[in-house]
Amino acid sequence: MHSRPKIIFPEVAVNLYKPANPVEVPIVDNQIATLEASPNKIRHITFDVSGTALEGHIRAGQSIGILPYGLKERDGSPAKVRLYSVASPSRGEDGEGKLIATTIKRVIDEEHDTQKLFLGLCSNYLSDFNPGETVKMTGPSGKRFVLPENADDFNYLLFATGTGVAPYRGMLADLLERPGFRNQVTLVFGAPYSTDLLYYDYFREMSVRHDNFHYLTSVSREGLRPDGRKNYVQHHLMDSQEILEPILSRENTLIYICGLKGMEIGLFSMLVRQGHAGYLKISEELNVKPPEQWDTGDLKKRVRPGDRLFVEVY
Ligand SMILES: Cc1cc2nc3c(=O)[nH]c(=O)nc-3n(C[C@H](O)[C@H](O)[C@H](O)COP(=O)(O)OP(=O)(O)OC[C@H]3O[C@@H](n4cnc5c(N)ncnc54)[C@H](O)[C@@H]3O)c2cc1C
Ligand SMILES: NC(=O)c1ccc[n+]([C@@H]2O[C@H](COP(=O)([O-])OP(=O)(O)OC[C@H]3O[C@@H](n4cnc5c(N)ncnc54)[C@H](OP(=O)(O)O)[C@@H]3O)[C@@H](O)[C@H]2O)c1
Repeated sequence: MHSRPKIIFPEVAVNLYKPANPVEVPIVDNQIATLEASPNKIRHITFDVSGTALEGHIRAGQSIGILPYGLKERDGSPAKVRLYSVASPSRGEDGEGKLIATTIKRVIDEEHDTQKLFLGLCSNYLSDFNPGETVKMTGPSGKRFVLPENADDFNYLLFATGTGVAPYRGMLADLLERPGFRNQVTLVFGAPYSTDLLYYDYFREMSVRHDNFHYLTSVSREGLRPDGRKNYVQHHLMDSQEILEPILSRENTLIYICGLKGMEIGLFSMLVRQGHAGYLKISEELNVKPPEQWDTGDLKKRVRPGDRLFVEVY
């Protein structure tokens, strides 16, 4: 039996630069983050924040803002800031907190009404930059989707879809580089195609080097499950029980969920079905209804993250 340590949230810097006073920083690298053949256009972009208040003050799990300066929103108003999760460890890409990275997906779609090409404003603005050019940055933002100050006291189960994996690239490095960290970490990452398994080599290599880190993937568009459904991250709670049950059953395990809005619903449902409702706060109204009869409305309105579960979905 493992005890449940108190989670100590770290003091983190926030809003050192606001939209009214952004800081101008150079881009030093801009690379494709997927395999070349991927239909999704996702880039790993590195910024040099040395000499600014951001240097050394951004935690893995926080976000920075990008101001698409000079551009206009669809209604003609000046473009607003968009947030991007930091993908680097808290010590930065360079080990000194001077270089930070993000994982940006180009929003490319068709207009819902006219079926004309729809290009997301900021994701395409940012993805087009070359090294040496500068952007206006705000932040950092976010206080709760970070590792606890007493990170060594916990095991971690990290769920991500798409670019939601960005914060875990940094958090994982923070954890596994901590001297003496021996607890368990598992990352479950879902992407549409195997070409979109972001940072695949990095996570694979980490899983080979560290026997306390497991890396599981779910590819949704390259074959269906036996019941005809897509493979989503929550299915690993059934399919990979030999890896996940020993972690989930410990009192000192924390769950983080990041990515597509709505992904948490399927995970909440599967946690309950697998006997791990303890990670959730469930409204009393649901006590009268067996979990197998809960519908999406119940899960959306009457189930909330408990103290050991952190959700950041947009
Ligand atoms: C805390 C946080 C962290 C984030 N981290 C990341 C990250 O690490 N990486 C990342 O890539 N993104 C991340 N995002 C999302 C990011 O902030 C932007 O929302 C995203 O890049 C899209 O911005 P855009 O300016 O390119 O698109 P916009 O111009 O803002 O367009 C997108 C909006 O247009 C609407 N839209 C979409 N498709 C269509 C269509 N076909 N027709 C009409 N309207 C449409 C949608 O409602 C959507 O809100 C994060 C968001 C938050 C809040
Ligand atoms: N800090 C943050 O909050 C943060 C950070 C980064 C990104 N984000 C957000 O994360 C999202 C990532 O989008 P993306 O375009 O990068 O993702 P993507 O490449 O489309 O990948 C998403 C994956 O999740 C699957 N999926 C769809 N619905 C699901 C569900 N209900 N449960 C589980 N899996 C589901 C998708 O499957 P199918 O499409 O095949 O159905 C796909 O395999 C964006 O909305 C971004 O704004 C948030």
